[in-house]
Amino acid sequence: MEITACTAADVALLDLHMGSPGRTSFHARRFARQEAGECTYLVAWLDGRPVGHTEMRWTGCADPRVRAVRPGCPEIGGLAVWPEELRSHGIGTTLVGAAEQLARARDLTVAGIGVAKDNPRAAALYARLGYRPLVDYLDRYSYEDVDGTIRECVDPCAFLVKEPL
Ligand SMILES: CC(C)(COP(=O)(O)OP(=O)(O)OC[C@H]1O[C@@H](n2cnc3c(N)ncnc32)[C@H](O)[C@@H]1OP(=O)(O)O)[C@@H](O)C(=O)NCCC(=O)NCCS
Repeated sequence: MEITACTAADVALLDLHMGSPGRTSFHARRFARQEAGECTYLVAWLDGRPVGHTEMRWTGCADPRVRAVRPGCPEIGGLAVWPEELRSHGIGTTLVGAAEQLARARDLTVAGIGVAKDNPRAAALYARLGYRPLVDYLDRYSYEDVDGTIRECVDPCAFLVKEPL
């Protein structure tokens, strides 16, 4: 498996293999954020096909409570492995490790991950990787449905941190 930062050409392949609803794919939005210097969008490849991704958000978590409790903490977000049968084979662990490596290369000593309260398996993975609960918060985000409707979501989450990296 190989992990690379997303390129403009990769966005179409991500849409093809790991599609998202709506007219503007979340891969395109993450790539645009990377172009703006706000994040690094990492893609995991197996036999030339994208099988996972994570967004290392240098700007940190948007939630004010998280920012107040731990200022300057980059956030590992948008972590997913697809198709489902490739899960539990270490791809997620490798992606998180690659994001941490990028943070260390910037002389950062901390990284955070937000996890939904109803995702105990992901929480167990992050605990195993050394992430500890910092603060609970509400993750507010919106996405465009297949029919073009904007859906507003609010997910109760825990923000976890690993320090030192
Ligand atoms: C969470 C996720 C990215 C982990 O990637 P992965 O490649 O399966 O992770 P690894 O193989 O390195 O580690 C596996 C561990 O992750 C967790 N996990 C496995 N399958 C999972 C699933 N379907 N959903 C959530 N967590 C899962 C378990 O703790 C698992 O432990 P196990 O290997 O003893 O079964 C992946 O399972 C996934 O894409 N889940 C759906 C999207 C999601 O929940 N993203 C996280 C948002 S915070």
